[in-house]
Amino acid sequence: MKLGVNIDHIAVLREARRVADPDPLDALSICKRAGADQITIHLREDRRHMQDSDAKNIIALSALPVNLECAIEPSMIDIACALRPHRVTLVPEKREEVTTEGGLAVTGAQPKLKEAIRRLEEEEIEVSLFIDPTLEAVRAAVDLHVEWIEFHTGKYANIYAMLYGNLAKTHHTIKELELPRKVLKQMLDDELRNLRLLSCDAMELGLKVAAGHGLNYQNVKDIVEIETIEELNIGQSIIARSVYTGLEQAILDMKALLIR
Ligand code: PXP
Repeated sequence: MKLGVNIDHIAVLREARRVADPDPLDALSICKRAGADQITIHLREDRRHMQDSDAKNIIALSALPVNLECAIEPSMIDIACALRPHRVTLVPEKREEVTTEGGLAVTGAQPKLKEAIRRLEEEEIEVSLFIDPTLEAVRAAVDLHVEWIEFHTGKYANIYAMLYGNLAKTHHTIKELELPRKVLKQMLDDELRNLRLLSCDAMELGLKVAAGHGLNYQNVKDIVEIETIEELNIGQSIIARSVYTGLEQAILDMKALLIR
């Protein structure tokens, strides 16, 4: 199973002090050496982590394919078309969110989305849509003729954290935390089943399937077993571990879990 390493969090650390280090560009050779298959970056409209110069340099210098995540705003599509990364993953963006909280509203935003896809494909850039794992979203992606979809695994990761994680560290309402373990286990099984069935449907409908968001060294194992998911994009947990182990080891550890 392929691994895209999302290196935004390196820029998060740098921007916390508005200094030059750590430079995400330095991660490229380490990711390659550790066996990553792709570099993933998100150029947000508010530029809270990656800056335009980061995106430009990373896309120009990476030996690995670069997957650029961006919003469907025409100004962002202009940038993506100019930089011509290997792939663009279109994601929803809200200024107030801490991270990408849900999948694209693929059915509501059709004209804007269609235009973004048309422009990117004209530049021969692979297009992926970051969507919630629903049949409606998969069907909309098929209708939009994109090559890839990426399922938002945030719901799965949240249920997993409530069931097995350190509850004090997760951000859920008291009501959710009070759910009996049996109910949480059922919710987790249901969500895994949903991801498995939808990935299979999507593949049969001609889409390539990726997944990501909230995946870590514990919860990734059940996702790896879904054979129709070709690739995972993982950021937070890898960069968090790298603080203690170094980036190369953190990627090697994750790659080892992705072997089928
Ligand atoms: N995939 C997409 C489309 C994302 O927006 C993100 C978060 O930036 C990720 C994957 C990685 O999520 P995480 O940092 O939680 O591993």
